[in-house]
Amino acid sequence: MLERLDKYLVEAGIASRSKVKELIKKGRISVNDNNKVKAELKINTETDIVKFDGKEVLLEEFEYFMLNKPAGIISASMDKKAKTVVDLITDKTRHDLFPIGRLDKDTHGLLIISNDGDLAHRLLSPKKHVSKTYFVKARGHIRNEAIKLFNDGLIVDEELTAKPATLKILNTAHETINYIDENSRQECQYSGEVTYCEVTIKEGKYHQIKRMFKAIDSEVLYLKRLSMGNLKLDESLDEGQYRPLTPKELKDLQENF
Ligand code: URA
Repeated sequence: MLERLDKYLVEAGIASRSKVKELIKKGRISVNDNNKVKAELKINTETDIVKFDGKEVLLEEFEYFMLNKPAGIISASMDKKAKTVVDLITDKTRHDLFPIGRLDKDTHGLLIISNDGDLAHRLLSPKKHVSKTYFVKARGHIRNEAIKLFNDGLIVDEELTAKPATLKILNTAHETINYIDENSRQECQYSGEVTYCEVTIKEGKYHQIKRMFKAIDSEVLYLKRLSMGNLKLDESLDEGQYRPLTPKELKDLQENF
């Protein structure tokens, strides 16, 4: 592929466009060992060897990261005011990364960050029915009857009847939890009975899990995505930490969806 030298260097994460131009002028960038080059030079990204201070500049076509998203960060590529999930990926080389799918600001857990639009399309397409499993702390005592309601396709509200979903009730405990109230967007505190559950859905409607628990007269107080398709959150990642997908994880995603 032919690409302008300055654009290539920016994409490779060397520096900003203006800084890159300075580096080129100073002769710190070479193309096939020639350092008398111009920013607008068209390079062949497959065959030309670009070096910065004598070290080869390599640009990965695609990057894939698994992030353990913390609450309080928005699922977007960039934002004028707020920190985004892509801002958390500090050692990326590509500048065109985006989150594959969205988690609400107060949701935690597995998010894939990549620039592979084709994989994103396949993972997010409603036709593919990619399953997503969430750990939920829900207000009150969720009774076993809810399992059948979820399994039969819960009537959530006037706009949504959920597709059959799997609800696993883990246990009930007394707990104090700080959470963001959906209506007021204020931080609230709940103290009382909480049911721990795992829910698997094969669709991804707006606020789907929260709406499903509301429909059974409960409320999501804590939400964490554990898996997407066959990709499981690496529990050794603390909140806010990330790592590249392993070749096996990537192959499994690409082959199955
Ligand atoms: N369902 C929700 O309600 N929120 C999320 O972030 C993900 C699924």
